[in-house]
Amino acid sequence: MTVENPVGVLDSGVGGISILKALVEFLPYENFVFFGDSANAPYGLKSREEIRELTMNSVKILLEQGCKAIVVACNTATAAAINDLREKYRDIPMIGLEPALKPAVLHKENSRVIVMATPFTLKEKKFEDLKNLYKDRAEIISLPCPELVRFVERQELYSPELLHYLRKQFEPYRNLKIDAIVLGCTHFPFVRRAIQEVVGRDVILYDSALGVGRQVRRQLEAYGLLNTSQKRGEVQILNSKGKEGEELCRRMLYN
Ligand code: DGL
Repeated sequence: MTVENPVGVLDSGVGGISILKALVEFLPYENFVFFGDSANAPYGLKSREEIRELTMNSVKILLEQGCKAIVVACNTATAAAINDLREKYRDIPMIGLEPALKPAVLHKENSRVIVMATPFTLKEKKFEDLKNLYKDRAEIISLPCPELVRFVERQELYSPELLHYLRKQFEPYRNLKIDAIVLGCTHFPFVRRAIQEVVGRDVILYDSALGVGRQVRRQLEAYGLLNTSQKRGEVQILNSKGKEGEELCRRMLYN
């Protein structure tokens, strides 16, 4: 393995591009291979076993491309498979994602925070443990948004139907003062504008992109795998939907 080998980034579909975008900016000399499993999205409504198997398969595809580290740029896949991945591939840094609850809770005393994510992420023990760390410092409300991944996969990023769906999801909290929202799914930053419009400008939205950049750099350094060349890295995009999915990912990355 050399430092020039790429970092693999995977997601259930196009959502992980929100993480890849941040990684390319934060680690400009790294090479990246992205694999989006759009043919099987959304993962968030599948069983733990199905998500685990699909994720294992995506990692295999990335390792066949010679990846030196793997970023599971999907909260759902991380919750289902990160422990097994770390167990199976002990020599390869495996970086997972979790909802950015910490910055959202810490930004203000006694805040009220809504975590939007897939139903699977929110019902997993991993999230329960995370919530328990902060439950005395904030009121934390889980808001499963099962349909939102599909809106993003079909590139419906701002439409009357999307706004209607979001208003319906937030209806029970309409009369509460919300301080922050955690975008606990990597698809959701692509509909940030619609979410912000529905919840109002005063609510701060947090996603995982910044934190994961720092973490990937730390891990690459720890394994002696950080690419120190001064040549801008390359990005290769793969998608289980083939050319159509790859083209879409590329557009989302560079727009
Ligand atoms: N991007 C995935 C996440 O972060 C979405 C999962 C799905 O496909 O439902 O959770």
